[in-house]
Amino acid sequence: MKNYYSPRKVIKLQTLRKFIPRLFLFGLVLTFLTTGLKYAEAGEQTSPCPQPRFTEKAPPAIYNLKNPLENTPENLKKGKLLYQVKAKPLPCKSCHGMTGDGNGSMARGFNPPPRNFTCTKTVNNVPDGQLYWIIKNGSPGTGMLSYKDLKDTQIWQIILHLRQLAQ
Ligand code: HEC
Repeated sequence: MKNYYSPRKVIKLQTLRKFIPRLFLFGLVLTFLTTGLKYAEAGEQTSPCPQPRFTEKAPPAIYNLKNPLENTPENLKKGKLLYQVKAKPLPCKSCHGMTGDGNGSMARGFNPPPRNFTCTKTVNNVPDGQLYWIIKNGSPGTGMLSYKDLKDTQIWQIILHLRQLAQ
């Protein structure tokens, strides 16, 4: 009688057999989800605010420049497009992030880190002329590239967009 299973037990065993692989799959999915979420969280560290800033100061004549462009929807749109897609060699969002929080896909590994444009405590104290100067010439010794090929108008359009990110 050793190997005798009652019909009830057989049914139980069959349902178990059905459910074990499902449970296993469910467990797998759960593990992937939780570890995935952990990684996503690690990638979403927010930059500190206020953000320490040691960037070299532009020469006085440039430092004091004001954005000559009007804050029109057209200018803002062009600035945003340059920031997110068009600027060469790399769009700004690769480092500064889509929202400007300084956490773009390439942001990690830069010391100093990319400027967090959403941090009003830091960027509202940085005048237009300074932003213009750094975009044009880069910040030597850091990850910030120079954008020599951008026309002045394009740089000012980007700056309109940066100011909007800080609101
Ligand atoms: C490869 C990464 C990278 C890209 C791409 C990049 N930046 Fe930066 N950016 C940085 C880093 C790193 C800093 C910090 C430099 C520093 O602290 O001096 C910075 C700083 C800045 C600053 C701060 C200037 C200041 O005086 O505080 C401005 C403005 C800026 N970037 C604008 C831009 C714009 C606009 C673009 C696109 C046209 C861009 N950046 C693309 C990495 C990048």
